[in-house]
Amino acid sequence: RLLIVDFGSQVTQLIARRLRELNVYCEIHPFQQVTDAFLRDFAPLAVILSGGPASVVHANSPRPPDAVFELGVPVLGICYGQQVMMEMLGGKVEGGKISGGGGTAEFGRAFVVPKGSLPLLDGWFEAGNREQVWMSHGDHVSRIAPGFEVFGTSPNAPFAITGDLSRNFFAVQFHPEVHHTPKGAKLYENFVKLAGFTGDWTMAGYREQAIAAIRDQVGDKNVICALSGGVDSSVAAALLHEAIGDQLTCVFVDHGLLRLHEAEEVVGMFRDHMNLSVIHADESELFLGELEGVSDPETKRKIIGRLFIDVFQKYANQIDGAEFLAQGTLYPDVIESVSFSGGPSATIKSHHNVGGLPEKMGLKLVEPLRELFKDEVRALGRELGLPDHFIARHPFPGPGLAIRCPGEITREKLEILRQADAIYIDQIRRHGLYDAIWQAFVAILPVRTVGVMGDGRTYDFACALRAVTSVDGMTADYYPFSHEFLGETATRIINEVQGINRVTYDITSKPPGTIEWE
Ligand code: XMP
Repeated sequence: RLLIVDFGSQVTQLIARRLRELNVYCEIHPFQQVTDAFLRDFAPLAVILSGGPASVVHANSPRPPDAVFELGVPVLGICYGQQVMMEMLGGKVEGGKISGGGGTAEFGRAFVVPKGSLPLLDGWFEAGNREQVWMSHGDHVSRIAPGFEVFGTSPNAPFAITGDLSRNFFAVQFHPEVHHTPKGAKLYENFVKLAGFTGDWTMAGYREQAIAAIRDQVGDKNVICALSGGVDSSVAAALLHEAIGDQLTCVFVDHGLLRLHEAEEVVGMFRDHMNLSVIHADESELFLGELEGVSDPETKRKIIGRLFIDVFQKYANQIDGAEFLAQGTLYPDVIESVSFSGGPSATIKSHHNVGGLPEKMGLKLVEPLRELFKDEVRALGRELGLPDHFIARHPFPGPGLAIRCPGEITREKLEILRQADAIYIDQIRRHGLYDAIWQAFVAILPVRTVGVMGDGRTYDFACALRAVTSVDGMTADYYPFSHEFLGETATRIINEVQGINRVTYDITSKPPGTIEWE
């Protein structure tokens, strides 16, 4: 296994992700944990020293133990890791100046040119060209350590790539793990090959490791989990169940704003099929009652968010001795909450989540998906035997159909919306388009229009179909359905759903629109 010593870079997890993609087993440990004894126990086949916000020139800045360099295994230092390596092995690091040539602070895109040849860079430079890398450093190495040679330079980093071939020590100034270093993955691939990894580790291995970690954290205590039926909470629940069995109880909060047959499907799947203990908290009367007459989008969201917490708490209190709350937090959520907390970004929509709940209830958090990205969560879900239907699902917002029913919510409108949405999704599946679309749904409009059906006049609701492509939900474009598809779908909805006599297609991108209508 490979050890990543974490010095606190925001992108350390990306290193782990790159290694998982190479089917290499690695663990990230904060530098404070990495002692001589730890290293002896861990016995890594290779070590990576991550980047981090500290400055090597300050006394008391973090260091790995000297023993890292005495293990006789390949070591790769990245950014801060490079500087710490140089400093400890006899080179020199200086604080950054923002201007001037020859080793200054550098942020963003840079180009390195090769010098000599290094096994680490196999497949990098073709015919002496330069290669894009991503830099983010204030300090710089001003003298490399004895035994090291320079293998690549950039205008502001004369020691962009260095290596000591006799010891297989490598140090790079840039971040090979990020997207903006296009050949970065190749560098990791070369590094793990040098260390003797064969790339035979898989998601099955991750599953074993995650289960052991959950058992270790939770012991014999009880855990509660808010199950929504979405990918993240479903995979988290399935994994926890495998780890701790009956110590897990899930609460499925049914706010009456779910899609057609959704509650039965989720509860049926987890309770009856997978044998999880699931409480179906049917509180639709409560939610719909409080939402009556409310049409302001933010007020709706606030009401739903508040009731969700109250309801969850009420049911959770009935579970004896729960000490942990499980959440399906993913790694991108972790990065966002670190980098944007307290930032100046405006609240476009107040998102509904159970944040703040653990403190309020005096619960500790267990977040078994914290290290994973969405596609890895899906892979883990498959590994755990969850049906594809659950794993490949489009996202569904916490406030549910409430935000797809602009204006006042009524039971009548919700029922019409459910029917129309089910037909639309059925059409998308029948045409094999489901996986090409990030999210698709129907919104029922707060307007009735006149139509004619048979020989009669109709005066029914209009609805809008929405389908977008997106990578992360932050930006989106409308999906270019064929006219045939749109025509066929509109006809089906109008014929099969009583209460809708007009169908429109929403062709707004995000921005300026948002994906949901509220
Ligand atoms: P918008 O409408 O902001 O949506 O473009 C972006 C993505 O977020 C989902 N969404 C939510 N998810 N709670 C959630 O869990 C919410 O309150 C919420 N609001 C929007 C939306 O479905 C889309 O995938």
